[in-house]
Amino acid sequence: MNQNRKILITCALPYANGYIHLGHLVEYLQADFWARFQTMRGHECIYICADDTHGTPIMVKAREMGITPEALIAKSYEDHSKDFADFQVQFSLYGSTNSQENKNLCEYFYKKMVEGGHTRTQAIQQLYCNHDKMFLPDRFVKGTCPKCGAKEQYGDSCDVCGSTYSPSDMKDVHCSMCGNAPVLKDSESIFFKLNDFKKYLETWIPEHCSPEISKKMLEWFNEDLHDLDISRDEPYFGFAIPGTNNKKFFYVWVDAPMGYMSTTEQWARSQKLSLNDIWQDPQREIYHFIGKDIARFHTIFWPAFLKAAEFRSPNQVFVHGHLMVNGEKMSKSKGTFIAARTYLNHLNPEYLRYYYSTKLNSSVDDIDLNLEDFVNRVNSELVGKITNLGSRGGQMLKKKMDGVMSTPDAEGEKLIAHAQKTADSIAAHYEARDFAKAINEIRSLADEANKYFDEKAPWKTLESDPAGTKQVITTTLNMFRLLAIYLKPVLPFYTEKVAKLLGEQDYKWSDIHTVLKNRPINDYEHLATRIEPDKVKAMVEESRKINEEIQATKKAATTAAPAPKAVAERPAEIEFADFEKVDLRIGQVIEAEEIKEADKLLRLKVDIGDGQVRQIIAGIKSAYKPEQLLGRKILVCVNLKPRKMKFGMSEGMVLAAGNGGSDLFVLSADDGAQVGQRVK
Ligand code: MSP
Ligand code: ZN
Repeated sequence: MNQNRKILITCALPYANGYIHLGHLVEYLQADFWARFQTMRGHECIYICADDTHGTPIMVKAREMGITPEALIAKSYEDHSKDFADFQVQFSLYGSTNSQENKNLCEYFYKKMVEGGHTRTQAIQQLYCNHDKMFLPDRFVKGTCPKCGAKEQYGDSCDVCGSTYSPSDMKDVHCSMCGNAPVLKDSESIFFKLNDFKKYLETWIPEHCSPEISKKMLEWFNEDLHDLDISRDEPYFGFAIPGTNNKKFFYVWVDAPMGYMSTTEQWARSQKLSLNDIWQDPQREIYHFIGKDIARFHTIFWPAFLKAAEFRSPNQVFVHGHLMVNGEKMSKSKGTFIAARTYLNHLNPEYLRYYYSTKLNSSVDDIDLNLEDFVNRVNSELVGKITNLGSRGGQMLKKKMDGVMSTPDAEGEKLIAHAQKTADSIAAHYEARDFAKAINEIRSLADEANKYFDEKAPWKTLESDPAGTKQVITTTLNMFRLLAIYLKPVLPFYTEKVAKLLGEQDYKWSDIHTVLKNRPINDYEHLATRIEPDKVKAMVEESRKINEEIQATKKAATTAAPAPKAVAERPAEIEFADFEKVDLRIGQVIEAEEIKEADKLLRLKVDIGDGQVRQIIAGIKSAYKPEQLLGRKILVCVNLKPRKMKFGMSEGMVLAAGNGGSDLFVLSADDGAQVGQRVK
């Protein structure tokens, strides 16, 4: 074993406009297993991650929510940090790309790119929305797919037929936010001359990626590499490009990978070191863990940036596949798009850590979370095979005997020696990120220990042969201890409890060489219980519900409370005939109740005159208690197409103004107004 390695690992930085879900955790958990394994082996392993905070989607989401991007990313930072901590993901530091260190680095990289002659400017035409006053990235353009004719597809690819294209090929192109047709507008862009690095990358890639990724990436190298547009026009949430008068900003994928370095710099400072002490240390191994969807950014763009700025590059980029649930892509409507937090509301994080470890290897194959298999494996392996050894052995010794171990019997000694010998092979699997193989070996050892325990049947010999029984239990507990040490990278909290049971602490890999003899144990503390399938069902149900609510409030938000726009302007004019189409009436609220299962919804019954009563489901719960609305005369649109919602039909719309949340005001009529009167 190479003594005292110095390692730095990173995971891809999650976008700050979304929540952490079980797909993300495929990455953060495997890197955590690996980091903990290295640390246990006595190496120094720094594990870095951060929020990816810049770009159009974040700016737009903040606009929609009526808050600043800074407020949005602060909230995500809190949520993400908590999700990771609760899943026992132990970063050395979790940073943010919106930091001074990152800005400085970004400017430094840019300076080196310019000095090296690796940039050029060129005017390009891009789609611009006159209403939202911004250039539209492909994802913010929708239209009809030029290949299959499917409507409402994104500007870069079609979800229906899978073809890729550019927005200019589409019919009926419109802005996804406001629906208006965008215009083409000229703008000067700054390009990074990627092709300058073609030769360099051609040798770099095969040396730093697995053969399967390398092959895929080198497919781009049959022709010249396209230069990369590294600038974006204002308004853009990000870092301004020096020399552009705050009119141009670095494209998010420029400053995002620099987050690896700026966060490392922050960590280094906490140790009274500099970035270069870590990053440029030739002894330091650097590894990036990423998903296959972002391989191009990490194996082509990023090493070229690093080369341009004369920084060293990572030793390897470890690329994993995507998470499937029940054999399919995660689905919001099926409830299999599961937020980390939703999972935690129902289940112990160590179950998922265990399950993922049984599935993960170093390939880019997708992994499947089959929910039935998840329950079965956790119950039969982690609880049935492994935990049972400790709970039965521990409780027998403590409750039926004096709680002190003796020595293993001859057969036990052999069993333990064999389990110790397996350490190197298990370690090799961990090192190779073949977690599934490591767990396989650990599980076979558990099988052997169970076979021994069942054959010896110590519960039968307690009275007749207490000394022999004790030897069997001593063997069993030693085997259990070894399993726990081997499992520590995956189940750190579990292993900590095992150490406590045995009166030890903080296992290192080298602790496998000792055998516990003639020493007392502590009270057995609960380690892991079986998963009740109902909890999994409840988790899926909650996920489905959350998604439905998001959909409902999205629709409600676009109808009841239009999103505040960054720039106030005169909306497009309509004809009187258009206005006439909207049938607005004075209604009176005759019933109001909150929908308990929904965060934002109230169910109203509104009298709209002529004996007609309409049920309206309105997203105003955060601003009104039901009783505040009872009897109120309000404005209602009565000819809106009825909409079926999860909580019933909504047959109209209540007019309200405001940004949402508590800042929301239902429009009412004077008391004298007559119910049913049309508003003109
Ligand atoms: N912000 C970029 C990364 C910038 S790194 C300089 C990003 N963010 S992400 O939130 O979309 O994804 C973060 C990581 O999680 C990526 O490596 C991505 O591949 C991984 N995963 C996101 N969804 C996933 C699955 N469904 N399955 C497995 N991994 C997934 O990309
Ligand atoms: Zn628009």
